[in-house]
Amino acid sequence: MDKLVREEIFNTAKSWILEAGNIIRNKINEPMEIGSKSNSNDLVTSVDRSTEEYFVNKIKSKYPNHLLLSEEGFGDNIQTVDGTIWIIDPIDGTMNFVQQKRNFAISIGIYHEGIGEIGLIYNVMEDILYTATRGEGAYKNGQKLPPLKSGVVLEESIVGLTHLWLCENPLVDERVMQELVQTARGSRTYGSAALEFAYVAEGVLEGYLTMSLSPWDIAAGMILVNEVGGVSTNLDGNVLDILKRDSVFTGHPEVHKRILEDFIKKGRK
Ligand code: IPD
Ligand code: CA
Ligand code: CA
Repeated sequence: MDKLVREEIFNTAKSWILEAGNIIRNKINEPMEIGSKSNSNDLVTSVDRSTEEYFVNKIKSKYPNHLLLSEEGFGDNIQTVDGTIWIIDPIDGTMNFVQQKRNFAISIGIYHEGIGEIGLIYNVMEDILYTATRGEGAYKNGQKLPPLKSGVVLEESIVGLTHLWLCENPLVDERVMQELVQTARGSRTYGSAALEFAYVAEGVLEGYLTMSLSPWDIAAGMILVNEVGGVSTNLDGNVLDILKRDSVFTGHPEVHKRILEDFIKKGRK
């Protein structure tokens, strides 16, 4: 993608994500419709829908040739990575949004011919914007994030995962995952994949593992993590396809390698 074109798109996306966040903050205490999708814990609200519609309307009027892949169904039916695609999660961490009114984010990844060019993750209630453009680094509220430090060991690391890994599950023997959390310094569950990617990029989480995520959960985060020297794969260490749902493991390169080799491979079903 041409650098000047990219800069213009970045600035526009940044102003839109800040505006959308502001709209959400202003109505955080107003009543909203809450429903569920695949199961009773998979929540969706009128704010998820209106935020997605906000981006669809903006993108379609300013960039009629761009495409949109988004969670709530207002986007395009995308089958290939051709062209410029905005991959959007209007609210990532809807359960936190509904029950905690914090710890959720808007996530936007912009891909051109399959390559991640721009990533934005906005922690709405804390007003913290993570941004990245390919080859130009990752930023937190305009401050450049340093490359991930070398020489980091699992024993001094914090790993992001949910309790579900420690129960019987279809992917990895839970006893091996119990060994993993006992070996790491600590574990955390934040409930927003986009924020967990941002924390890996910021170097405050050394890894984040999840059993199944969609393109909109990871599109922006992968660009951010990549810019600071982190890696993102599926649970088998394979490259992720940006249009497909898959298991996801992002992290510090040394910790990622250690977890993959000493734990995941050992317990993989
Ligand atoms: C969810 C969050 C959550 C992750 C789920 C996602 P949503 O996204 O990122 O942390 O564990 O798998 O579906 O539904 O709140 O956009
Ligand atoms: Ca999500
Ligand atoms: Ca969502």
